[in-house]
Amino acid sequence: MARRNIAAGNWKMNKTSEEAIELFEKIVDINVPEGVEVIMATPAIYLDWAAKGVYEKGRVNVSAQNCHEEESGAYTGEISAKMLASIDVPYVLIGHSERREIFNEEDSLLAKKIDAALDAGLSPIFCCGEPLSVRKAGEQVDYVSKQVEKALFHLEGPMLDRIVIAYEPIWAIGTGETASPEQAQEMHSAIRSQLAGKYGSKIADDISILYGGSVKPANAKEIFSQTDVDGGLVGGASLIASGFEEIINSFS
Ligand code: PGA
Repeated sequence: MARRNIAAGNWKMNKTSEEAIELFEKIVDINVPEGVEVIMATPAIYLDWAAKGVYEKGRVNVSAQNCHEEESGAYTGEISAKMLASIDVPYVLIGHSERREIFNEEDSLLAKKIDAALDAGLSPIFCCGEPLSVRKAGEQVDYVSKQVEKALFHLEGPMLDRIVIAYEPIWAIGTGETASPEQAQEMHSAIRSQLAGKYGSKIADDISILYGGSVKPANAKEIFSQTDVDGGLVGGASLIASGFEEIINSFS
């Protein structure tokens, strides 16, 4: 998959069934501009009908928010990448900071989840990002590089074609505080250079790198206009269709 503009919504653990259907119907009716891909990471319970629903409409895709690293077995409450693939879900978020922090998911586990997703034919949206203490110490590039290296660098180059990266500084998630466009650009460019160093510039140039952390209609345009920012992973602002539509229209 070539590098492209992506507006991805992460619904997290929000919306009852009725509310989810209402939001979903509004989003699939949005007139998505040419060259923009829209992804909705709904709660897993809604993915089956959402995946069926989007294909009738066109350029909107769905994503899971997580998957288990094993293909099947005695893992009560879990969902495998293979199951997601079997209901035609094309994407899965891996390593969201809430999974890392609240559910103690470490880099070694995330590397296994990346493999499980790729083996099942899914495209992982790999999330990385530093906490505030690391940002304050000025060590964010080193910190995020390690996350990228540990989760992805065991992969062969061609596999990178199926990966999307989302840089989400933890201090900006759900806080209303956004990284400045320059801070986003600095990190995205560092990630791209790191990928170029390992896999060559063709692969690095082809990968889509999204920014996440309090993206909203008021700041999306400026953030998306940065050279190495290919779109956003949007939490809170993706729960209101009109606002998400403005974000979808923020690519110039
Ligand atoms: P936010 O969440 O847009 O509400 O800050 C982003 C995310 O966690 O993906």
